[in-house]
Amino acid sequence: MNIRNVQESDYDRVMEVMVEWWGGRDLRARVYQGLFLHFRQTGFIVEDARGKLMAFLLGYLSQTFAKEAYINWIGVHPGHRDQGIARILYERFFEVARAHKRNRVTCGTALENQASLRWHQHLGFSVEEKNGVYFFSREI
Ligand SMILES: CC(C)(COP(=O)(O)OP(=O)(O)OC[C@H]1O[C@@H](n2cnc3c(N)ncnc32)[C@H](O)[C@@H]1OP(=O)(O)O)[C@@H](O)C(=O)NCCC(=O)NCCS
Repeated sequence: MNIRNVQESDYDRVMEVMVEWWGGRDLRARVYQGLFLHFRQTGFIVEDARGKLMAFLLGYLSQTFAKEAYINWIGVHPGHRDQGIARILYERFFEVARAHKRNRVTCGTALENQASLRWHQHLGFSVEEKNGVYFFSREI
């Protein structure tokens, strides 16, 4: 398993898997392509030894809130779940965020994504329902 920063060419690969990984929900139009180009330091790709995509994380350092970093997307191949991969990616993101003097990580998910709600709670995030989405927050 290899973890590296995202690059522009990863966009198409992520688009190819998203519908399947999100259980049939098509959220592709909501993924800002610029995340792969302008936010490479806070985006990660996990590949297996053959270069097959296993997981990805896309996020950024908030410009508005100087102490905050935001995780926009996290996805793990259904065949590689419950192996700690998403946790590793979150930890990697936290490290970069701390290096930039951020002490809070936030993220959000649709109300229908109950698995994401439970997962974020399991990782110690607090939850608030706001404007039809779950808003997660955690000190790092
Ligand atoms: C949510 C998701 C990213 C979790 O990835 P994962 O690699 O399976 O998670 P991990 O293995 O790192 O989980 C870490 C811990 O959470 C637990 N966990 C995993 N899925 C869970 C769930 N749905 N509810 C509660 N806990 C969960 C694991 O057992 C593990 O526990 P432990 O370390 O205390 O033993 C993955 O299920 C996924 O890609 N889902 C579809 C996309 C999605 O909904 N993304 C989130 C919204 S952007």
